[in-house]
Formats: sequence, structure tokens, C-alpha cells
Amino acid sequence: MARVIVLGVLVSGGGTNLQAILDAIAAGTLDARVAVVVSNVPGAGALARAKTAGVEALVIDHRDYVDRPAFDAAVVEALRLRGVELVVLAGFMRVVTDVLLGAFPLRMVNVHPGLLPAFPGVRAQRQALAHGVRIAGCTVHFVDGGTDTGPIIAQAAVPVHEDDDEAALTARILVKEHELLPRVLQWIAEGRVSVEPGPAGRPRVRVRGARTER
Ligand code: GAR
Repeated sequence: MARVIVLGVLVSGGGTNLQAILDAIAAGTLDARVAVVVSNVPGAGALARAKTAGVEALVIDHRDYVDRPAFDAAVVEALRLRGVELVVLAGFMRVVTDVLLGAFPLRMVNVHPGLLPAFPGVRAQRQALAHGVRIAGCTVHFVDGGTDTGPIIAQAAVPVHEDDDEAALTARILVKEHELLPRVLQWIAEGRVSVEPGPAGRPRVRVRGARTER
């Protein structure tokens, strides 16, 4: 039995991944509580999803801050005030600085719509189609100082169909994201996820007793 982990979810968009987290909590498959949802975009659909679930929804607009570190400091303060233990970047379209990373070292995870280390950054699905890959997917990883370079916790793959456009591939990948992200969060809640030095000197994730594929 995992203890209830306190999450802070950072968003910029529609919030279907946030919804997957909220649904998993409601279904009893994720032992977590979302203490706050922070959006850097006023009016983001994710904010309405938070409110519907009775979760505090906060707008911290990056345009109100002189630079990225100042914005991150405001986010850190909001998360700390609410006792957040683990930060989830769920469609959060901002590069994070050392201010946020330092406050939550190996306590911040991101979901990315690509099979990293291929296609980091924006519009990974479009990059995948442009390269003509036959397999695409998503990655949940710890956040480090690079762009989508942090230790990989889990991935899920989908086929790329001959007639796929960006919207079709995005939708197919999203279905996998919605399964993978809550599953990884539950592993973390259960204390099963650790980061160790890997063979190439890079940190590597171990998940103890993972019964499902990762
Ligand atoms: C998701 O596909 C997520 O992987 C992606 O944005 C989408 C957000 O959807 N994140 C990134 O591209 C981060 N670089 P959602 O708001 O419906 O969860």
C-alpha cells in the first residue's frame, strides 16, 4: 500500500494528461492528491478540468515576469506553499531553469510525445512523421537541465500508419500517455523508482518489481 503522494501539476494546454491523473486518483489506481494545478497560460483548458475536480487552479503567467528564473521562483513558491512533493509537467510548454530543478531534484517528471532520445523539444509527432519512422510513442522521464534529456522512467510505443497526419498520430500517442503517466506516478508513490549511475556514466532509472512493461 503506497502512501498518498502530493502532486503539483504544471500545464499549458488542454489538460488531457491532467485528466488522466485525476481519473486514476478517483478510480483508486493512483495513491496521490493533486494539491494544485499551475498554468502559465490563462484560459488553458486544464484549468477548467482542475476546477471541475475540486482542485485549486492557479494561473502564473510567464509574461508577468522579467525572466525565466523569476517565473520559476514564483512557481516554486506556489508549489512549496501547498506541500507539493512531486511536480508533474503535463503538457507544460516552458523550459525550466535551475530554480525549479534545484527545488525539486529528481522530484519532477515530464511526459513527452516521442520516444526519447529521438525527437526532443516541440512537435515531436511532426518530427517523427518527417523522419518517416514506423514506430512512435511517448516517454515519461525525470526532468534535468536539458531539453527532454532526463533519465527515462518508462516508454510506450504505437505504430505509425501509412496515411497518418500529425493529428492522427498525436491522438494515438495521447492514448498511451494517459495510461503511462498515472502508472509511473503510482510506481513513484510506491517508492519503487530509483535513479542509479548507469554504464555510460549517465543516470539510469530502476523500477523495483515492475510487473508491467515499461
Ligand atoms: C501531450 O502530448 C504532452 O506529451 C505534450 O503536450 C501534450 C499536452 O496535452 N508535451 C510536450 O510536448 C512537452 N514538450 P494535454 O494538455 O492534453 O495533456
